[in-house]
Amino acid sequence: MKAFTAALALLALASSAFGALQQVTGFGTNPTNLQMYISLPSKVATNPAVIVALHPCGGTASQWYSGTKLPSYSDSLGFILIYPQTTKYSNCWDVNNAGSLTHGGNGDALGIISMVNYTLQKYNGDKSKLYVMGGSSGAMMSNVMVGSYPDVFEAGAAYSGTAFACFAGSKSDPTPFGANQTCAQGLTHTPEQWAQFVYNAYPGYTGKRPRFLVAHVTECRGWM
Ligand SMILES: *[C@@H]1O[C@H](CO)[C@@H](O)[C@H](O)[C@H]1NC(C)=O
Ligand SMILES: *[C@@H]1O[C@H](CO)[C@@H](O)[C@H](O)[C@H]1NC(C)=O
Repeated sequence: MKAFTAALALLALASSAFGALQQVTGFGTNPTNLQMYISLPSKVATNPAVIVALHPCGGTASQWYSGTKLPSYSDSLGFILIYPQTTKYSNCWDVNNAGSLTHGGNGDALGIISMVNYTLQKYNGDKSKLYVMGGSSGAMMSNVMVGSYPDVFEAGAAYSGTAFACFAGSKSDPTPFGANQTCAQGLTHTPEQWAQFVYNAYPGYTGKRPRFLVAHVTECRGWM
């Protein structure tokens, strides 16, 4: 009876862990000291797809985990979710940092790539099914990820962000209060110039570019 109760307790523990966020440490190069959280479905698909989900300014991994329907889709479809977390700049991503705006540079983007590599390896993920999404600062960072790492992601989606390099060189923090807002409040470059910022992130890259969905609305009822 005792063993049975213990087994039941274990089972309860195990099932409460399904779909819950787990912190992962030692996932690789992490120059800006990000935290990595992962959410696994009850049954991980064979060669699963992986989605990186990036929280907004002031957010956290667990806040963003509860903020969208992705975890329930993950559980029914078997893909894996990575929830990176930054605690710098009021929990905003370093989208103004030359390091993140450069392929292989020393910014948040590189730490996120390490999380992706770690997850692909550990769960035998499908490299051709890698996605990134986010809201607000996480949306800006989704732009940064597909711009600096076009070779890694198949597609991305941004809800209420800014273009790649919009805050580039901003001397203050990439927060809604700190960043130079000129770019965010209106397009300050030609389409060719915007494209050039992305080309400059990874000079010489000639491979395919990720598909990208931009959602920018004033009401988001039912969007997520
Ligand atoms: C991620 O994996 C790719 C391909 O194996 C490798 O070229 C790259 O250096 C890795 N990056 C990091 C940050 O681990
Ligand atoms: C803000 O950024 C714009 C370009 O987007 C630039 O022209 C302007 O000088 C910047 N202002 C400050 C105070 O840095």
